[in-house]
Amino acid sequence: PDLDSFIAGLPKAELHLHIEGSLEPELMFALASRNGVAIPFASVEEVRAAYSFTRLQDFLDIYYQGANVLLTQQDFHDLGSAYFARAAADGVVHAEIMFDPQTHTARGIPFGTVIGGLLAAMEEAEVRHGMTSRLILCFLRHLDEEDAFRTLADAKPWLDRITAVGLDSSENGHPPSKFARVFAEARRLGLRLVAHAGEEGPPAYVREALDLLAIDRLDHGNRSLEDPVLTARLAREGMTLTVCPLSNLKLCVVNDMADHPIDRMLREGLRATINSDDPAYFGGYVADNYRAAAAARDLSRSDLATLARNSLLGSFLSDAEVAAHL
Ligand code: HPA
Ligand code: ZN
Repeated sequence: PDLDSFIAGLPKAELHLHIEGSLEPELMFALASRNGVAIPFASVEEVRAAYSFTRLQDFLDIYYQGANVLLTQQDFHDLGSAYFARAAADGVVHAEIMFDPQTHTARGIPFGTVIGGLLAAMEEAEVRHGMTSRLILCFLRHLDEEDAFRTLADAKPWLDRITAVGLDSSENGHPPSKFARVFAEARRLGLRLVAHAGEEGPPAYVREALDLLAIDRLDHGNRSLEDPVLTARLAREGMTLTVCPLSNLKLCVVNDMADHPIDRMLREGLRATINSDDPAYFGGYVADNYRAAAAARDLSRSDLATLARNSLLGSFLSDAEVAAHL
């Protein structure tokens, strides 16, 4: 088959996807109109033109603003449905989706409204697309520990439907250590742990995520490569890295896709995976990310198959569930 069909045909898991980051401008307009929410854009084209970033914070400012159109359980359901349909077309057989409850509860939207809509979309995806999915509750790291603890308390009635907690938002100045106690509590509650680290932050933040949070999976992790000892440790421990090439390009984590370290990660023995992060903002879904990395770094079909296989191995599915996909 041609390369596009080969990529779409690889059974893959998506492990790094912010559901709020899958809000396409068209749906943003539709929800703004349905809910009577004003947005500071006149057209879909104007929205897309605003998606030009030089660093993580540029993106976050516009991403949190976009989320203001999400009000009702149906809105979160529609958001999830649109993502699952798009991911299914890319050969995603399993998705572990992150959501940012604090973005919504801070606006007075109940936690149950958010998760209720997402869970409905997840059930529907299993029927419509045969796609399984899990939820990762992310804490916003620019907010304080107390706010994260309050969010974990909000999640208590839903713990059997949440697989993991994560850590996202502004990385620099908000090291993993700030959330060591919340993560310990989440672990005690039986949740798995992931954290964004080493996207803009230094290798020391990745070490903190390993040593102080005891993460099960590392989101991004790019800057780990600056530290050979850390890189060797991640390889030795079989840590999965959820790498997001188009995100890295749009947020200037790499200056050119030709400089992307995805193949170097594989060569260093890291269990790297390819993911879309915030596809509506960064210009592509998961297959677009595979294609962009493959073209820029001349990845072989064997490399692409390894990346897809890594995504299933690095998922929170059981060994039997993983084996059924491989
Ligand atoms: N980094 C940090 N926070 C985020 C991201 C990201 O790439 N996407 C959504 N929230
Ligand atoms: Zn992310």
